[in-house]
Parts: sequence; C-alpha cells; structure tokens
Amino acid sequence: MLDHLKETDYGTPKRESEREVTLEIDGNEVTVPAGTSLMRAAVDAGIQVPKLCATDSLEPFGSCRLCLVEIEGRRGFPASCTTPAEAGMKVRTQTPKLQELRKGVMELYISDHPLDCLTCSANGNCELQDMAGVTGLRNVRYGFDGANHIKSEKDESNPYFSYDPSKCIVCNRCVRACEETQGTFALTISGRGFESRVSPGQDEAFMDSECVSCGACVEACPTATLQEKSVIWLGQPEHSVITTCAYCGVGCAFKAEMKGNEVVRMVPWKDGKANAGHSCVKGRFAWGYATHQDRMPKPMIRKNISDPWQEVSWDTAINYAASEFKRLQAKYGKDSIGGITSSRCTNEETYLVQKLVRAAFGNNNVDTCARVCHSPTGYGLKQTLGESAGTQTFASVDKADVIMVIGANPTDGHPVFASRMKKRLRQGAKLIVVDPRRIDIVKSPHIKAAHHLQLRPGTNVAVVTALAHVIVTEGLMADDFVAERCDSASFKEWKSYVERPEQSPEATEQVTGVPAAEMRAAARLFAKAGNGAIYYGLGVTEHSQGSTTVMGIANLAMVTGNVGREGVGVNPLRGQNNVQGSCDMGSFPHELPGYRHVSDSTTRATFESAWGVQINPEPGLRIPNMFDAAIGGSFKGLYCEGEDIVQSDPNTQHVAAAMMGMECVVVQDIFLNETAKYAHVFLPGSSFLEKDGTFTNAERRISRVRKVMPPKAGLADWEVTVKLAQALGYPMDYKSPEAIMDEIAALTPTFHGVSYKRLDELGSIQWPCNENAPDGTPTMHIDRFVRGKGKFIVTQYVATDEKVTRRFPLLLTTGRILSQYNVGAQTRRTENNQWHSEDRLEIHPHDAEERGVKEGDWVGIQSRAGETVLRATVSERVQPGVVYTTFHFPESGANVITTDNSDWATNCPEYKVTAVQVMPVMQPSSWQQEYSRFNRTQHELLAAASAPQGGEMVPAK
Ligand code: SF4
Ligand code: SF4
Ligand code: SF4
Ligand code: FES
Repeated sequence: MLDHLKETDYGTPKRESEREVTLEIDGNEVTVPAGTSLMRAAVDAGIQVPKLCATDSLEPFGSCRLCLVEIEGRRGFPASCTTPAEAGMKVRTQTPKLQELRKGVMELYISDHPLDCLTCSANGNCELQDMAGVTGLRNVRYGFDGANHIKSEKDESNPYFSYDPSKCIVCNRCVRACEETQGTFALTISGRGFESRVSPGQDEAFMDSECVSCGACVEACPTATLQEKSVIWLGQPEHSVITTCAYCGVGCAFKAEMKGNEVVRMVPWKDGKANAGHSCVKGRFAWGYATHQDRMPKPMIRKNISDPWQEVSWDTAINYAASEFKRLQAKYGKDSIGGITSSRCTNEETYLVQKLVRAAFGNNNVDTCARVCHSPTGYGLKQTLGESAGTQTFASVDKADVIMVIGANPTDGHPVFASRMKKRLRQGAKLIVVDPRRIDIVKSPHIKAAHHLQLRPGTNVAVVTALAHVIVTEGLMADDFVAERCDSASFKEWKSYVERPEQSPEATEQVTGVPAAEMRAAARLFAKAGNGAIYYGLGVTEHSQGSTTVMGIANLAMVTGNVGREGVGVNPLRGQNNVQGSCDMGSFPHELPGYRHVSDSTTRATFESAWGVQINPEPGLRIPNMFDAAIGGSFKGLYCEGEDIVQSDPNTQHVAAAMMGMECVVVQDIFLNETAKYAHVFLPGSSFLEKDGTFTNAERRISRVRKVMPPKAGLADWEVTVKLAQALGYPMDYKSPEAIMDEIAALTPTFHGVSYKRLDELGSIQWPCNENAPDGTPTMHIDRFVRGKGKFIVTQYVATDEKVTRRFPLLLTTGRILSQYNVGAQTRRTENNQWHSEDRLEIHPHDAEERGVKEGDWVGIQSRAGETVLRATVSERVQPGVVYTTFHFPESGANVITTDNSDWATNCPEYKVTAVQVMPVMQPSSWQQEYSRFNRTQHELLAAASAPQGGEMVPAK
C-alpha cells in the first residue's frame, strides 16, 4: 500500500457546485467548483500558498495573514483561504511585497516561540518550521527579551497528548476542530490580544474539561503545542500503512504511522469514507493493548481446567485439539462439537471458521457473537426489506432533515458517526431520541432533541406502533411510495392493525410511559419533515421482541417513504467492528455466506462442489442451544475464536456451568480472557495490527485491514484455522487472506466483484458489489426493494416476562461508555481506564433516597438470575424505577444478573430489561467472591505454566 505519511493539505474544504469558475493563478489557468477558495484553487494549479491557520478539514478562519495574495484590479492583499475564486480573476501568490508581508508575520510568531526546533518533538513535521523556511525568515528583529509565553506551563493531564502553551500560535485550528469536527466545544481562546491562549473549559486541565480525547485538535495543530505523547517518546514516524480500526462498527480508516514494527501513532485517514479523517479516543489512542505484557505468545494445553497450563509448540497444540475433537465426535456423535466466531475477527477468519465447522466438523454448529447483539437486525430487515443490512452510508446523514435515534447512544458507542450526525443537527436537522435514559445527545452543546421519548425499558414495540398509528390515522403516509413500492396485501393488514384505537399513544401511554402528546408530536415531525432517517442500536435488538421492533422500524421507514435515497433509511449501528461481516460470512447455524439458508439445495450444492464435502441441510445449534446441550451432556467440544462468551453472554452462572460441562474447549484469543479460564487448549491470536484481511462496517463497507507488525505468536489467526482443519483431515490450502477473499467472492453473489485489488483501487467497497454494481452499493433499495415489494409486518406488542415485582421492583438496563469497549479486554489494558475504571450502577435520586443509597456507596443488585455488587452513581439521567450499568469489567458481573430471556425469533438475549432489587451492602456478592477465587486460581495455573522440556508431553486422555 502506498505510504501516506505526507498528504496534500488543500487548505480549505472541498466545495460542491454545479457551476465552475476558471481563473488564472501565477499565470496558470485553473477551473474549480464555485465557492472554492483561492488557496485550494492554487493547490489544484500545483501552487502551495503559505498558510498556518488554514487546513482542509476546517472552515477557513483568516487569522494568520500568511496566505495573502494579490488580485489584479483589486486593492490590498486578501487572504487566499477566505477569498472565493471568481471567474476571470488573475491572482499572484508570490511577489516581493507578499514576501515582505509574510516575513513580517513570521517574525511576530517566532519572537514568541521557543527556538528549540532541534529537540522539539515536531521537528520535521511542524508547519511553523516549514513556513519559516518557505517565507525565507532569517532573523527576528524583535528579539526574544520582551513579554512572551515561553515559560508557560505544560498540561500533561491527558494520558495520550500534551499541551504546551509556549508553542501555541493561537491559530484557532484546535478550537475549530473541537467544534466543527468533533462537536464537543471543549476549547476556547481565553484572554485577548497578546494574552490570548487556548483553554480547555474554564481554564481547566484537559482531563478536567469536557474534552473526550478524540484527538481532532491534536491532528489539527500545526505546531508541537498539542502533540501525541507517543510521538514525544518515540520520535517522528518513518512510514505509514492504511488500516481499519478494530473497535466499533463505524469502521474508521487509520494511518498506522510506524517506525519499523513499532506504532508511533494512529492518525485518522482523511480519505477514509466512514470517518473522513476523524476518530475517537479508542481508535486514535487505545491501541497499546496490542503490545501489552498480558499478551499470550505461546500455545498451551491442559487436560482439566484445574491443571496447570503446559506450553507446547503450535503443532502439538493443534494436533491435540484435533485429536480431542475427533475423540469427542467418535464417542458422543458428530453434533457434539461446534465453533463460535467473533465480530472482532476479519471476514476471512470468520469465513474459515464456519467452513471448518461445516466441512471438517461436518455439522452446522457455528454461531457468532452477533447472536447476542444484532441477530434481530438480520432477521427483521430480511423479512421486511429483503436484505439483512442497513440501507445507507454514514455520509447520508448529511442530507437528513429529521433523525430518529432509537435505543442507541452514538456519542458513546459510535462516536465518529455521532460527530457527523451532530454536525447535521447543528445545521438545522431535527432530532427525536427514543431511549429510557437521558443520553448525551438529548442535550449537548448547540444540540437539543426536539423530542425525547423516555420510554420504559421493554416497550419499544408499543412505541413504534404508536408512532405508526399517528402517521396512519392522521393521513401522514407517503401514499405514492407505499402504492408503488410496497406489498399491498401486507400493507392493508398492517394498516388495519396499527389504526386500531388500542395502538394509539393515548391507549399505550400507561405502558410506554411516553406522554401521548409528545408521541404524537414526534410522529408528525418524523413524517412531515422531509428526509427522515432512523438510526438504532442494541437498545432495539437486545429484547424479547428485538426482531419485532426492527420490523416496526422498517414499517415506519416504508410508510413515510423514507427508503431508497440519501438522507433517509434504516440504519443499524453495529456494535463491534465486524458484526456486519461476521453475519455476511455465514457464521450463523442456519445460513451459508450471503444469508442463504442451509436448507436451500442450490446454495448447498455450490458450496459442496467448491469444498468437496456434503453439507448438512439442517441448521445447527445456536450459542444458547450449545450451552443448554453442554449442560445436558450432549455438547462436548468448542472451538471459540476471538469471543469471550463467559463475560459477554447473559446469565454468567449458566454459561460457566456449560463450560464446565465440556471436555475440550479450544480458545483462540490474544489474552487469557474469561472464557480461556475454562479452556483446555489455548491458541494465541493476533491483534488487528498483526493481520491482513477485511472488516465490514455498519454501512456494509468492506475495508482492508493491513498488517503493520508480525503476529506475536508466529501464526496469523487464519493460518491457525487452516492448520486445525488440516489436522482434522480436511484439506485447506490458502496462500494468503487474499485467496480466502477470492473464494468468498466466487461463492457469494453479493461479493462477486470484491477483491483486494478493487479494494486498493477504491479504498473501500459497500456490498452488494457484483456485475450489477461493480463499484459497490452506497444506498440500497433505490428503485425496488431487494425482496421486490417492501413487506409490512404486524408488530404486536407482547410484554416481556421480565416484569417488576415487589421482590424486584426496578428495571435494569445496560449500555456502553465511550472510553471502554465491550468486555473491555482491549481498552482495560490501556490508559482509557483513567476515564472509566469500574462499572457503576446509575440510580435515580428518588430510588436512591428510598434505599438510603448515596453517591459512591456499594450496592447489591439482585435479579432472579444472580447478584452482584457495584458502586452507585446517583443520577437523573435515568428515570425513577430504572437503573443502568455498563459491562466492561469482568469482576462487575453485570451478566450474572441478566437472564436467559431472549428474542423470540433469534434468541438474542434480553440484556436491556432485567427486574432487580438494589440495596446498600458491605461486601462483594457471593458470585464475586467465587469469581475472585476462581480467577486467582487460574492466574496461578497460568503462572505455573511449564515450558516444554526435552520433548513435549501431551496430557493423557
Ligand atoms: S481531544 Fe477532541 S474533544 Fe478534546 S479538546 Fe481536542 S478536539 Fe476537543
Ligand atoms: S494549540 Fe495548536 S492548533 Fe491550537 S491555537 Fe495553538 S497552535 Fe493553533
Ligand atoms: S472506535 Fe469506532 S468511532 Fe472510534 S475510531 Fe474506532 S471505528 Fe472509529
Ligand atoms: S491561512 Fe489564510 S489567514 Fe491563515
């Protein structure tokens, strides 16, 4: 891949216009879209105008006066960054007068700037230094003895970047980046004139301010004032590789800037289509886990989980796993083993795992962690629209007029998309939030939701149906769209259902807790405002009626005509980086790659002929079925790649019992995670920095993951799966992940046009990509739905069995926080812990007072599944009767409390509704005490791991 260390900065953002203007700059004719700045037009003509306060990710500001130009027939020296190009202009960027003026500006800057260039961390990558060279600055007439800021104190409070005010040139780029790009408004310029300085919050330290450490200001800063600490420690990078963030489903593209095999910094890539040069604290800074001392570099085996681990060679570990799997199948039957893949793995890796299960295990017992997050999305959207995926690009939000966010918390879960959405909201789009909790986006700087429908957890279906009721009964439907694009029989049936009085906001108010007038106003706004876009998350899917709500959302989009163009659509915000991809790759027990059912003989025949095996036409076991079968004694062996089922699946004690019921658990991971503590074989995995492959984000965008350092344990994850298949007697022979993608493309119609070559050419591709759409498909369902006519489905509200009682009078719901990710295995091993070092229980002041709970108190949270203890945060973000926690720390045991209730269609667990009681306590719960003992024992067994001595021993069977 090309090195992108030095990229062109056009000075001002690109302008779109149908009108073009032609002008002359330094004698060169150049044609640009109307509205383009002279500075950008000059770059197009191959001319760099000196600049300091301008950069192409931000609107021009015109403060530094370095970019002055002369325009024939005009007086003065306008700034080229703020002057739009006009037809017929004759512009000069280099004249003796301009040279003199620029030198004068530079003299002023340099007279208040430390001259420590040789030892400065930005040496070689400093725009001020460059400009001193470009302007020919040779001396500074003002001297350095006057008042200056050279001794200003540094702010080192942020763990990832430092702020050295002595180097600040007050160009305002950081302030604008925080406002325009990130939308946090954490920075201001305090003081006036000479005294003006950048200040986080009210002259606070960065860590005490509103700053969310996204790094946009650091990236925008032209000097070493805001600088990554990793650059200060390691020096400037010497090459870069474009890759994709391994955290959330936004799928931001990054330049991994390297020195040899060492990452110096991760810089969001300007040409990344999902992020356009922006990032959040996780992708930008929290990559240190990849080289953390807890990484497990050696394969290990043991007979029982009470035995010490034994380090062995790759061949020994893989042969042992294969022999155990064969033994189990011989003893307990073909269906006694299975595999679980993870949305953290690449497409190529997940494809191989499902192939291994189907071809080498000979069954369909393969599932993925999407089971516990977005499986209802796959089901619900397939039923209604015909494809198990979101309909839009992230950029589509730029054209939305009203945005409905249901059960998602984008500023924490999908921060880079949230920034884009907030920008659109600041431009005037309206916002409707449907969430039991007052999430940040309800009210943040310059943003206020028009409506916050603060529903009771578990009542999503009643809310989406009530919204539909208003739209249908008040005549707000897109009649033409429905008549032309949708299935009329299903529409009639659905309409007659939703228009019933019992679906009205007034009738359901008691159930949902949403005032009827608010519900009606929100429905009217959504239906009437123009382009209406719906974004939703796990607050929709992780319910006993998750699939029903997804279908209800699709109904809402169809009845208002909000599908099939930019600015609208049904947009699931996927949790992990490759949730979409792991589903696409056939990781479900009933589907082969491309969402084709295993019972379909034509599809099976395609794979059977390519793989040379017979495929079972019956769906295999889902994850919860595997657990039940393990407890029941019929499921005995598991290959688990990249997923920590013990921490992330609901009802931890049930999962632990299932793990104990198996005879061979093989875990392939980068850390000895909670699941690995129950494993018999540990195969070291590789981080995203050590692998080649692809991830597919929430917009169906396939992006390359590129290796920047060798796999720590010697083998990449795909190679391990290949070796395991071979050891099981099934031949797999790939030269590279590229060859795996070629096989995926050949066997999957929606991927026919995908190849690494095309990905390199296009940067990324949104599937479907095939003969009909060679460059991919940014917007789906444009002229017709994938299933032909859009199908309305009746969404009957059925209250969850999980009801409050006198014993369990509160409803617990769960979610994420910005700085931590999922089970926390990665982010807990970074400085991100400085923002969030423990999971806490949010409780409303009223409920807290009733129980005598004060801020920071330890409280026991008890459900019918179990009990855990956390510290309390008393907060009005939750409504009375509702408590909330995150789930990033294993010792919190959030999933000890969650139950095994699940979505009726997909078994996605009902994480979002658990009836609980909360009481002050003095000691950890009995589960936590047991966890701490088990955890300590497992660490001792790991510490006692013996290296092979004179020939490896294999545990006796
Ligand atoms: S790191 Fe991000 S949030 Fe913090 S001040 Fe900079 S731009 Fe603003
Ligand atoms: S901190 Fe950097 S970007 Fe911000 S005003 Fe100072 S020099 Fe400019
Ligand atoms: S965590 Fe998500 S939003 Fe943050 S940088 Fe990674 S992909 Fe982007
Ligand atoms: S770059 Fe134009 S005024 Fe600073």
